Order: sequence, then structure tokens, then C-alpha cells
Amino acid sequence: MSKIRLGVNIDHVATVRNARGELYPSPLRAALLAQKSGAESITIHLREDRRHIREFDLKEIKSKLKIPLNLEIAATQEMLNIALKSKPDFICIVPEKRQELTTEGGLNLKHRRTFLINLIKKLKKNKFRVSLFIEPSIKDIKDSQKLNADCVEIHTGRLCNLINENKNFNKELQKIKKATILGNKLGLEVHAGHGLTYKSAKILRRVSGIKEFNIGHFLIGESIFVGLAKTIKNFRRILR
Ligand code: PXP
Repeated sequence: MSKIRLGVNIDHVATVRNARGELYPSPLRAALLAQKSGAESITIHLREDRRHIREFDLKEIKSKLKIPLNLEIAATQEMLNIALKSKPDFICIVPEKRQELTTEGGLNLKHRRTFLINLIKKLKKNKFRVSLFIEPSIKDIKDSQKLNADCVEIHTGRLCNLINENKNFNKELQKIKKATILGNKLGLEVHAGHGLTYKSAKILRRVSGIKEFNIGHFLIGESIFVGLAKTIKNFRRILR
């Protein structure tokens, strides 16, 4: 099995910060710690409603990070302008609905097609690595190649839900395998992301041909349990 790169999504550090309107916890600090700990890229999603990452985070993180910064954006003119100005290394185009709790499905590659074609063209002209967040479907893989994307990120949310609920996930895993094989054959670099946990990452890492996992919510949540004891000890020391 070949090594898979780990991209760490730090959006939810900003979610916690914004819940109290404070300056902490700092997404920049999380990005730098992730870098120091072996993350191979940092992912942030600048949502249209700015519910977690804000533009100043993007600016600050871009200026201090040494590993590649992967910016997730909706296919809009505003986001294109921000990408061109802030110059992250990678761009992942994702669908966005204002009311959703998280990115609920892959991109609709037919929607505003001309805009999408021009968006990808402009991003590539400016040397960004362009990835499309898609469903594990043969049609979407073929279409992503036609759109001249460098990479596809396969939405693993459905697979992860089935695994979490102890349901049969074989059909969904087969879909991901087939999409990965075709993606590689067509010259697309294949990534995976959404909902990944230790358990689902162990299952999915057996699919050969996936080069990168992008993991956020579980990883940030799990780090509470890895770090809580130490933080309490630090306070005990202060209060002694
Ligand atoms: N990849 C993409 C394209 C995403 O939109 C997200 C969620 O922001 C992730 C990966 C990470 O998903 P999760 O936070 O569930 O690990």
C-alpha cells in the first residue's frame, strides 16, 4: 500500500473561536501545529457566510505556512477574486448551500457550466492545483477530466455514515474503488474527504490509487480528548 498524504482541515478551530467571538483558539496556531506534527497540507473552507474561516485567517495562515494551503471555495466570482488575491497553493471547488450544516454532496458539474469552465481555466492559468469535490460516480469522473481539473476529491460522507452506523458499506466502497480506478486512468489525481474517522480511514486507505485524505471534524474533535488531560494539569499547576 502506498503512502497517502494527510491534509488537515482546521475549519472547526475557527468554529469554536467564533462561537464566543474571541481571538482563540487560533486557526493559525492549529495550522502551524498540524504542520509541525506531519500534516502535508492545510485545508480551509472560506464559506460565503464566513461561519468559520474568515478572510484574515486566510491571509495570516498563507503568510506563515510552509506546507501547501488548500483553499476550498464555492464556484463564485467573489471566491475567484479572493483566491487570485490570496494565492493559496491548491484550490478545491465545492458546492455550497447556505442552510447546510456541512458540504452535503458533490459538485453539480452541469450547473452554471460555462462559469465553471472559465473558473477552472482562470485558476489553472494562475498555476493553482485545481480539484473538484465530486460524488463517487463514473459520470462525474469523466466530466472532471473534460473540465480539465488536476484532481478530484471524492465525497466519502455516505461511506463514512454507513460505517458509523454499522451498516453494509460494500456497495458504496465499490463505487469509490471504480471511480478511483477510472480517475487514475484518465490522469486525475484522486483524493478523498468528508466524515473520515480512524475507522473509515483504515477501511478507505486499502483502496489503491487515492493519494490524499482531507480530514477535519473528527480530527479536531478527537484532539480534545488527546489534549484535555494536559490542559487540566496546566490549570492545576496555575491554581496550586
Ligand atoms: N473535503 C472537503 C472538500 C470538504 O468540504 C470537507 C468539509 O469541509 C472535508 C474534506 C473535511 O470533512 P470533515 O470535516 O468531515 O473531515
